[in-house]
Amino acid sequence: MRSSPMPRDPLITQYEQWVYPEPIVDLDAYVAAGGRDYADPSRLRWKIWPHGAVPAGLRILVAGCGANQAAILARANPAASVLGIDLSGQAIAHHERLKKAHKLHNLELLQVAVEDVGTLGREFDYIVTTGVLHHLADPAAGLEALRQVLAPQGAISVMLYGRHRRAGVYMVQEALRRLGAERTPEGVALARDVVAHLPEWHAARQYVAVAPDLGYDAGIVDAFLNARDRAYTVPEIMDLAVAAGLRFQSWLDGLHYSPSAVFPADAAIHDHIHALPRVEQWHIVDLLGQVTGVHRFLLCHAERLLVGEVDEDGFLLSPDARLLAGVIDADAVPIRHPDLVLTEEHDSACMQREWHTLRLNGAALAAFSQVDGSCSFRLILDAFADQASRDYVMAVFTYLAECDHIHFAYPRTT
Ligand SMILES: C[S@@+](CC[C@H](N)C(=O)[O-])C[C@H]1O[C@@H](n2cnc3c(N)ncnc32)[C@H](O)[C@@H]1O
Repeated sequence: MRSSPMPRDPLITQYEQWVYPEPIVDLDAYVAAGGRDYADPSRLRWKIWPHGAVPAGLRILVAGCGANQAAILARANPAASVLGIDLSGQAIAHHERLKKAHKLHNLELLQVAVEDVGTLGREFDYIVTTGVLHHLADPAAGLEALRQVLAPQGAISVMLYGRHRRAGVYMVQEALRRLGAERTPEGVALARDVVAHLPEWHAARQYVAVAPDLGYDAGIVDAFLNARDRAYTVPEIMDLAVAAGLRFQSWLDGLHYSPSAVFPADAAIHDHIHALPRVEQWHIVDLLGQVTGVHRFLLCHAERLLVGEVDEDGFLLSPDARLLAGVIDADAVPIRHPDLVLTEEHDSACMQREWHTLRLNGAALAAFSQVDGSCSFRLILDAFADQASRDYVMAVFTYLAECDHIHFAYPRTT
């Protein structure tokens, strides 16, 4: 008797038909218009490798690369080798077009499942998996497969859907299923119409307001007609990391989880939240702040960190925690986040990144003006003779580091 072939996973059928994200035709034009990848190591090297040098000949894996992501990263990191894998032949085919058009000799593409990456017999220093694991039948198994190909000093950058801001999306998904909407042009038209007519108080509107990709059909399918997706709370992310044998290193952008950034200084929550364990704090900020619909974070091998670099909960000490604990190297060099905008006015300046603004003046402004990528924190502090100013500058830099407006470079480890 002939065995019948395995039925195709509807998720992969979906990404073959509705290639996601919208294929980029001209990468140069995309970059010129401000396009970049959130997890790009060329922009965030000190965030990713806070205590060590970037491995020479960086080997990057983009797991579930979709139509564009591996090409974007290959273009931005010409000295690195980039492997993009995806199960969608259409996504790989578009990547091949980008590779040819932009002569991306450092880019390799394979139609391989995330779960099977170990069969390649390769190892990677940096793995990027954006919006992929939450579509897998077994996300922990997918992450475990990535752990097995991660180099000892490597890091994995993960993006997963966030549970709270997406709550309304799952209501719309269920309603569309009950209406019989399929992943067809008719289904997309119905989904668009349903979303357009949601009352202004519908929870899905909170997600629509921040979703960048609802302007094209594959984006509508991805959000509202997806064959399989789930979303995560902060504690669930910690559990997922543990289940895959990995350590939570940090958020890719601590701004979204910072109580001080999300709640005004006079909010009563500050009297209660700061004494709680960090995961609790992040969870509460996510429950109440709902700043973003996704979580982006870094994972590493549990053994990667040296003794003294983790706190009592086993988390990597972030620069702000090191500053607070007084253990940060004074020789560390503060680096501005690449997206930080500083607008100088008379005797003050407005600092802005994403939704967060901050006014700097006096000693804080004088100190921050020295943050040029080469001046050490020690030198910045030494410019202030009196202890009160030094304490103030320390407090400001602690706050800026907690918000990820600055990262720290450690010359001793370069
Ligand atoms: C939402 S898209 C994200 C694409 C890309 N990471 C980005 O952010 O632009 C998810 C991608 O994961 C791919 N995918 C889903 N399951 C997969 C699996 N088991 N192995 C490899 N790729 C998979 C899909 O084909 C799709 O291209």
